Amino acid sequence: MEAKRLAAEKAVELIADGMVVGLGTGSTVAYAIQRLGEFVKQGLDVRAIATSTRSEQLARELGIHLVTFADVQQIDLTIDGADEVDPEWNLIKGGGGALLREKIVAAASRRLIIIVDESKVVEKLGKFPLPVEVVPFGYQVTMQRLYDLGFSPQLRTDGGQPCITDNGNFIIDCRIDVIDHPGRIHDSLNKMVGIVENGLFIGYASQVIVGYHDGSVKELKRRVD
Ligand code: A5P
Repeated sequence: MEAKRLAAEKAVELIADGMVVGLGTGSTVAYAIQRLGEFVKQGLDVRAIATSTRSEQLARELGIHLVTFADVQQIDLTIDGADEVDPEWNLIKGGGGALLREKIVAAASRRLIIIVDESKVVEKLGKFPLPVEVVPFGYQVTMQRLYDLGFSPQLRTDGGQPCITDNGNFIIDCRIDVIDHPGRIHDSLNKMVGIVENGLFIGYASQVIVGYHDGSVKELKRRVD
């Protein structure tokens, strides 16, 4: 989609020679990886760490030099998508199931550039069901705890079978009308045994680039209280 591509290509302009780059996951990031592949062919020298086997495969096909955390521990700049972005730049991520690796990469990055189309920008998070990565063992109990917390939890499946993440876990999509206090929800979820990580990204984004269907691209101003 054009709006996603515009945001992605704008973000790739921030990549400079010699950088270690984090590659997010999803359809918007795929445009960024494609663009980065073009720059690499023209001589740009970067090393990249991918947040999913999908992104890794695409990067490899395009000749992007891939490394791991065994080689580098600090990433200069990561480009990733999001399912929702609020005015404080809190995010819901994990629609593509890669939230755990995405958060590990985000936490190791000096800068996290979020690229979205305008449909992802919301006043309050929560319309998009919050993805939560859980250990398969006892996931039924974890689902009950999520229900008790006020969510409508649903195990993510594909063809009748649970979706398995790159880390061998399940994803539970948690519906709730609105997330009024993302920080509190984040902390309650991550305290729960059986939960590996949740899709709320709070305080990670350094910049949010939004592509619009009219062909424009803008940076989302951050609301500070
Ligand atoms: C992947 O797990 C997600 O966090 C994605 O970044 C998010 O779902 C956005 O995906 P699209 O760019 O495909 O909308």
